Order: sequence, then C-alpha cells, then structure tokens
Amino acid sequence: MNFQQAAARYAANPSRETLAEVTGQLLQALTAREKIRLLSGRALGTTVMNLFLYRRKYNATPYAAGGCKRLGIPPLLFTDGPRGVVMGRSTCFPVSMLRGASFDDGLEARVGAAIAEEAIAGGANYFAGVCINLLRHPAWGRAQESYGEDSYLLGRMGAALTKAVQAHGMIACPKHFACNSIEDLRFIVDVQANARTLREVYLPHFKKCIDAGALSIMGAYNRLNGAYCCENYELLTRVLREEMGFGGAVISDFVLAIYDAARALPAGCDVEMPYTWRYLALPRLLRKGKITMEQIDTAAGRVLGMLLRSTPKIKPQKKDVIRSGEHVALAREAAQKGMVLLKNDGILPITEQSPCIAVLGRYADKKNWGDYGSSNVFSPYCVTPYQGIKAGFAQGKVVCYNGCEPEKALRIAQNSDYLVVCVGSDHRQEGEFMSTLGGDQRRKPKNVGGDRASLRLPPEDIALVRALCKTGKKVIVYIMGGSAYVMEDLLEAGPHAILMGFYAGLEGGNALADILSGRVNPGGRLPFTIARREEDYPPFLRVEDEAREIEYGYYHGYALLDKQGKRARFPFGFGLSYTEFAYEDLHAQAVDEGIYASLTVRNTGSCAGATVAQFYVGSAGAGDDRPVKQLRGFKRVQLGAGESAEVRELLPWEDLRFYDPETKQWGLDAAYVVYAGADAEEAMNRRQAVRAG
Ligand code: BGC
Repeated sequence: MNFQQAAARYAANPSRETLAEVTGQLLQALTAREKIRLLSGRALGTTVMNLFLYRRKYNATPYAAGGCKRLGIPPLLFTDGPRGVVMGRSTCFPVSMLRGASFDDGLEARVGAAIAEEAIAGGANYFAGVCINLLRHPAWGRAQESYGEDSYLLGRMGAALTKAVQAHGMIACPKHFACNSIEDLRFIVDVQANARTLREVYLPHFKKCIDAGALSIMGAYNRLNGAYCCENYELLTRVLREEMGFGGAVISDFVLAIYDAARALPAGCDVEMPYTWRYLALPRLLRKGKITMEQIDTAAGRVLGMLLRSTPKIKPQKKDVIRSGEHVALAREAAQKGMVLLKNDGILPITEQSPCIAVLGRYADKKNWGDYGSSNVFSPYCVTPYQGIKAGFAQGKVVCYNGCEPEKALRIAQNSDYLVVCVGSDHRQEGEFMSTLGGDQRRKPKNVGGDRASLRLPPEDIALVRALCKTGKKVIVYIMGGSAYVMEDLLEAGPHAILMGFYAGLEGGNALADILSGRVNPGGRLPFTIARREEDYPPFLRVEDEAREIEYGYYHGYALLDKQGKRARFPFGFGLSYTEFAYEDLHAQAVDEGIYASLTVRNTGSCAGATVAQFYVGSAGAGDDRPVKQLRGFKRVQLGAGESAEVRELLPWEDLRFYDPETKQWGLDAAYVVYAGADAEEAMNRRQAVRAG
C-alpha cells in the first residue's frame, strides 16, 4: 500500500479504525530506516538557502521533515506564524495579542483561513503559528505572539485558529507545550508547577485546541518540573496523550529542545526539528536496545496519521492569494477591532473637517510591526502612524517628527491642535531572543528582543508626553507593544487620550486613523491586566538572578489581584468606546451541559459601537483555594445607538471543574456565582448564584 491508496481508503471511511488499519499497513510497507526518516527534520539545505539565496530571511521557504518518496508519503512542510505566514511576502496581520483584544473568535477564524491560504500558496502544509502560551507576567518577550493572560480566552482564540487552518487541509500546531513564558532563559529555566495549577491554569487552552482537532503540538525548550519538555514523559505521554486525549504528533522546538534522543522518543516527542541531530542516534540506540522498534512505530504511526487526516483536505491555492486585497482588508479590520481605548477625556474622535495634527515620537513614521524572531512576516510595506493619519485626514494638515526630543517636537507641533505621540517598544526591547545559543545567557547582547527589561514606558517617551501636555494642546498617546505597561507615570503626565495599538500589522497606521477619526468606533478590550505597580504581578526570572528555577503558582493577572483584594489600573477586559453601554438582567441557571447565562447589553449612547459581554464564574463557599472568579464566556456584540441585545452563553461544566491532586480526579463545586458585565472588575456589580447539577 502507498500513501495515496491509504489516504483514499481513509477518506472513504474516516473512522479511527480505518486510520489505525491503513497506518498499520503503511508501517508494514516501510523499512526501519524509512520510519526513522519520518521522524527527522531535514531542513539543513533550506536553512542554507534561506540564509544565502533569500537574503537571510528566516523560513523564506518551508522547513521539511520526514516524507518517503518510494511510498508517496509527503514531507511536513513547516512554516511559522502567528502574525501571518513567515514565508515570502505574505500579509502581516496584527500580532495575536491585538487579535486577543478583539475578543472575536469569528474574526480569528477568518484570519486563520487567510493564513492557511497564503501558507498553502507558499508551498507549506504545516502551520506552527498557534501560539497559546499564557501571559503570566508582562515582561515575557514573546507575549505579542500569544492572546493574553487568560486561559479561557487563549483556548477560544487558539481553537478558532486551529479549526480554520485545518479546514484548509493544513496541519495546525499549537505551541509551546508547556509553560514557556520566560524568554531570556528559555533554554535553561526549570518551571515548577503543581498538578492542579498545570491542569487548571496552564493547560486547558491546549486542551481546547486538541478538542478543536489540532493534529500536532510543539514541545517547548524549557524544563517543566525538572525535565526538558521534549524529553518529559509525564508531560508528553501521561498528561498530553493519556489525560488530554491528544492523538496527533509532537514535534520538538527548533535545535535546542532535545538533548538526548533516548529520552525524547520514549517520552513522546515524535519528530526532531528542523535538522536531524539528536535523532541521528536513533539507529544506534535501536541496535543497543535503548529504544525499541515499537517506539519508532508509534511515533512514525502518529506522523502518518496526522498526514492522512490532513493531506487529502488541502485546498490548492493560487499565488495571488498572498496579500490579496481581501487579506489586506482583513488585516485592517482586525487592527481596528483589537485596538483598546484606555482613556478619552472627550477629545476623540477628531471630527473637525480639517484638523491640524502632529504625529510625534519614536514610532511616528517607523515600521514597527513586532519582533524580529521566528514570527516576523515580511510584507513589502507597513503603514506607519504618520502615513495612516495623513491619508485618513486628507483634508487636514498633518505634520510629523519621528523622534523624542521635546524641543524639536514642540517646534514641529506648534501649529497643530492634536498631538498624536507614538510610544512603546519595538523588536529591540521585546520579542523572541535568538542570538545566544544555549548555555548561560548572561552575555545577552543589546537590541535583540528577549524579555522586557522594564514594565514602564521608556523615560524619553514619558518626558516627551509630559512636555507636550504642558502646551495645553490635545495629546493622544498611541502605545505600541506586546503586553501590559505599568502606566502611572504616563497618566501623571496627563495626556487626554490613550490608545493601546499593540503591533497592528501592515495596515496598522490606517486602522489607527480610522479610530482617531471615528470612522471606526474602538471595541477592543484588554487581554491582560494593567496593574498599578510592578509588584502586583507575580515574580519573574531574569538572567541576572542566580536561580534557574521558578515556581508558577496558581495565581496571576486578575485572579491574583482578586486574591489579594487589589484593584487594577485598567482591569482585564477593559476598553472604552465612543458610545456607552449598559449591562442588565443577568440570568444564570444550571442545565445538563453547564450553566446557561444571559445578559442584556444596551447601547445607551449616540453612535453605533461594539462591546464584549463577559461572563466570569467563581465557586461559592468552596474555601479559599479557589479563585474569586475566572472568565468562562464572552461575546463581542455590535449595536446601533439605542439598540440592545440579549447575549446568551453556555458555560460548560467541563470549564468549571477543579482538579483534586490527591484523587487525581476532576470535580464540581456545590455552587457557583456567575458575574457578568463589561470587564473583570465591572462585572462584579452583577452576580447570581447557581447550584451545580
Ligand atoms: C521558536 C518557535 C518556532 C521555531 C521555528 C523557535 O526558536 O521558539 O516558536 O516555531 O523556532 O522557527
């Protein structure tokens, strides 16, 4: 039997049994060498080509692994994300953190479909861009690649992306499994997390992607409870496969994730990426009896199963889908929907016919679409704030100063009424950290990304805003960055408006202008907590710390603030609009599948707009080892002025369970409290108790 015949048999009867049967037949037809080859990255040549022929563009063509010509088994053709497709000149979408802020999984599904089309057109069949590590601390350099601090939000968005990508026949790969959220020490750090914290906080979003059909998973670089993730039997076999029901193939993160093939393969890491380095030892280990043929068959069988379930569904794409008009428009729509208005003293939107606007600051006219790590997408252009505002206010007078010297800015802005100050971070202060390989990364060179050194905005940015605020003109701060900033000094400087723009993709400047002008009413909501003080976040581990081990406790983000009775500066789920909303009539009742909750949302203002109805659930009377509440449902709703809608969400029991490490069982509490409203703090104004079961 060859691959095509096996795929046809499976397509005719896509059951588990047929899959097992045809996979078994293919395994029989393969030699031991061919099976081992299915587990082996073979991208050495591609890397050389990418570096030299494609002028150093990372992943310009897919990284291949596995495959067998004799039996027609296709290789894995890997491309990265999640900001878009890393290959070629694809559409640079806004980063996942901005997409998380849209709280719109329907939108994420459309982004996923567009990404899949571009990836297929670029020759890939494997998309490793479902990045769902939980943002435990805002210093994490790769925060921008993920959707926020909340497991439920991560799960909903990751599942939407997974499904959409796989509907096109691509393999979707959620990553990095697990607890990968410290960048500078990513190759070394040993994360300690107990059984309950793992299962309730750090893994449920992976489970949601698995339930959505994810065919692959990438093991992380870091250690978890003492063992490297890609060599961690407890993680990859006991938890991922036996408990979470994952049936696909695990690949390693690149190069420095596997140290010992004799541990990795039996642990459940099926494919070494992107080169065969440690897995070169597999034939020898087999001969010496350190690994078994059965283990090789199991891993090869998983790779075959993944390919059989995806390859026949591939929808071929023409090259012109890459950065098509439709995809570019979608990137702009996503950017519009995710930007979060944090403050507005009545100056936005700018409605004058011909306003005088000065666009100032370090990022006023600079391409700034996120980090330069493996998720960089190489679109041929990026609309800067200045370009977008100039085009969006064509009848106004728009000037620009791309810098942060207050005197120059004041001079340039002297005839302007509105000052848009573009501040924040770029690929130098945060992002994937790629330049020191392994070892102790004390010699971290400057300007390479990695974890953010400070949670504050740079002092030069604050000084500029302060100087501009003194002019009495209308000051709007536009923040670029991948996660939360502690903003006390910015707020003290006194700008009239603050808009969190994240890294908004190739159309970011246009989306910014759409919001400033009121053509689009902002509806993004914070996917993380903006705390008042650095100490309000859990501890983080840095290169200069002696320790290489860190405890990931149960509490972070809004759950930690709730626990400590503290308030955020801007809570999780918060965002302003140009209109007002009222939230009324919360009803919650237990049904067979979970708690059925409804809430009426009314647009009480004078223009159309979107808000996100949020449902949180806490357990009632279960003692103090439970969080006060956790997000368990949300819906983004668009309403015209005066309109209202009833939002209904089923909050499944499965999401409300707690894990008992003693009995290793999941259980339900006797009673719950449902909170609903505009954000994690506002929702506390409405509550209803529900008895379980
Ligand atoms: C990153 C992964 C990425 C891989 C391939 C690694 O350094 O951690 O997220 O998919 O490189 O580019």
